[in-house]
Amino acid sequence: MRRALTKLRSWAVGAAALAVAFTLFGGAGALAVAASSGGASVGASVGAGISGGASASIGAGTGTGTGTGTGTSTSTGFDDAALIKRGEYLARVADCAACHTAEGGKPFAGGLPLQTPIGTVFSTNITPDAQTGIGGDTYADFDNALRHGVSKGGYTLYPAMPYPSYARIQPDDVKALYAYFMHGVTAVHQPRTANGIRWPLSMRWPLALWRIAFAPGVAAGANAQAADDATVSLERGRYLVEGLGHCGACHTSRGMLLQERALNDTGGPAFLQGGVVEQWFANNLRDDRADGLGDWSREDIVAFLKAGRNAHSAAFGGMHDVVLDSTQYMSDTDLRSIADYLQSLAPAGQRASLVYDDTAALALHAGQTGAPGARTFLDNCAACHRSDGNGYDGVFPRLALSATVNAQDPTSLISLVLHGASMPGTQSAPTVFTMPAFGERLNDQQVADVVTFIRSAWGNQAPPVDADAVRRIRNGSR
Ligand code: HEC
Ligand code: HEC
Ligand code: HEC
Repeated sequence: MRRALTKLRSWAVGAAALAVAFTLFGGAGALAVAASSGGASVGASVGAGISGGASASIGAGTGTGTGTGTGTSTSTGFDDAALIKRGEYLARVADCAACHTAEGGKPFAGGLPLQTPIGTVFSTNITPDAQTGIGGDTYADFDNALRHGVSKGGYTLYPAMPYPSYARIQPDDVKALYAYFMHGVTAVHQPRTANGIRWPLSMRWPLALWRIAFAPGVAAGANAQAADDATVSLERGRYLVEGLGHCGACHTSRGMLLQERALNDTGGPAFLQGGVVEQWFANNLRDDRADGLGDWSREDIVAFLKAGRNAHSAAFGGMHDVVLDSTQYMSDTDLRSIADYLQSLAPAGQRASLVYDDTAALALHAGQTGAPGARTFLDNCAACHRSDGNGYDGVFPRLALSATVNAQDPTSLISLVLHGASMPGTQSAPTVFTMPAFGERLNDQQVADVVTFIRSAWGNQAPPVDADAVRRIRNGSR
């Protein structure tokens, strides 16, 4: 699964925009243009909200210059057991392992390849090994990399490292993370793999311009402020989703220079409205009916993140690993906060809730398979998802009224039919159910027809899919 993740995690997200921009306009020019044309509207409202639940609104501008770590510049005082433990939990929430642990590699020793349009970037060794890891890094060095995107050597990191989201992390949590990586992680001697990016694209200075244009300022300490429980939970959820959890890295679409279109909910409705990461569509997480989380309850959201499945859907694609490595370990309180926050996001569109319609189920029962895709569905899909589209709860997800099926963007559906998928086996739901791949058996037109069929049966309402869209995904050119 790490292989899939490698591709999914790529910040490059299937666009060669950056490479093209660099080559055509010479990096600086292109970035300057983007920065002045509204791309840089990352007016980050840096909420606080750990224990105090306060919401300090730091109108962060764009250019924060080079990172200046706060706090001490020695690694003493970070060996407190409780602090290390808290850091371990936060590292799970932030899913550092997703990128810094290679497939079959030692924890956090780096070397995982991440594809970008300009070449391959390898994650680095963040174990406390003094020579090849971050053992020699001071707290300030660590903070500069994590939140400011600036390496110890002074150069800007590729935004494959999600520092624009991590900028949100509170200093107290940065300290706990530092304590964990210095004292809770086993040191591994593993030299860095050289990046596969050739000169002139390997020059890092355009990245510094990108950072100045698109990365928000970093969070200051939390303002202690009295607030009711609901506000505390909401602000905690905001902090987890926008910051540590970097959910927007996949669930927000990207602009020309691969910057997320919004880093928080004040940045506009593009925030968490859905984005394509490689060959999967990371769904709309806003309160939209039909294709968002509008018809999910708070408990539904918690169950999905904890178990990887619920009565509406099951995790696949990039979300498979997010659940496996990260969200299943979150506390129920934190998961409820995430749900509270997601439910607070205003719908981006105006779709109404869908209503179940039994026309397709009755036709299939009666053996009427005249509609395009109906026969293919009956022969290949109905055994698991049933002819009434309701599936089997917790085993084979329902297709009727599903947000995944009703997404405007059909990328995930095409990928599922072509390549199949397996649910994550989690602590609370260990059984892995698998959907087989149909890419060998069905041609592009048949895949298009069956996807179009499920998008219009049982009350579902989503645009049809043509064979060209299937071909692009099959060829990996989407
Ligand atoms: C989505 C992938 C991804 C995630 C998640 C991620 N990183 Fe990174 N990180 C990278 C990549 C790729 C690099 C190397 C970037 C470069 O070479 O410019 C990096 C670089 C770093 C560096 C700089 C190391 C050096 O040698 O200068 C540190 C420190 C770091 N990451 C810590 C963390 C921590 C701590 C977390 C979790 C809180 C984390 N990263 C999560 C991808 C990721
Ligand atoms: C590596 C990319 C990635 C990251 C990071 C990510 N997601 Fe996802 N997510 C996806 C993809 C792809 C899907 C669609 C597949 C599915 O439904 O499982 C998805 C689906 C979901 C769904 C199900 C939506 C539905 O209608 O079925 C929820 C809920 C969700 N993600 C929440 C989150 C939260 C909360 C975070 C941050 C803590 C997050 N995701 C981070 C890629 C990601
Ligand atoms: C052997 C049983 C089986 C068959 C046959 C099958 N599926 Fe699936 N399907 C699954 C399972 C299991 C999942 C959950 C996969 C995951 O989450 O990784 C799934 C997930 C899906 C989803 C995503 C639903 C959601 O919201 O999570 C869609 C859409 C889907 N299947 C469509 C189809 C179509 C179309 C066919 C026929 C071409 C088909 N399936 C055949 C078992 C099956």
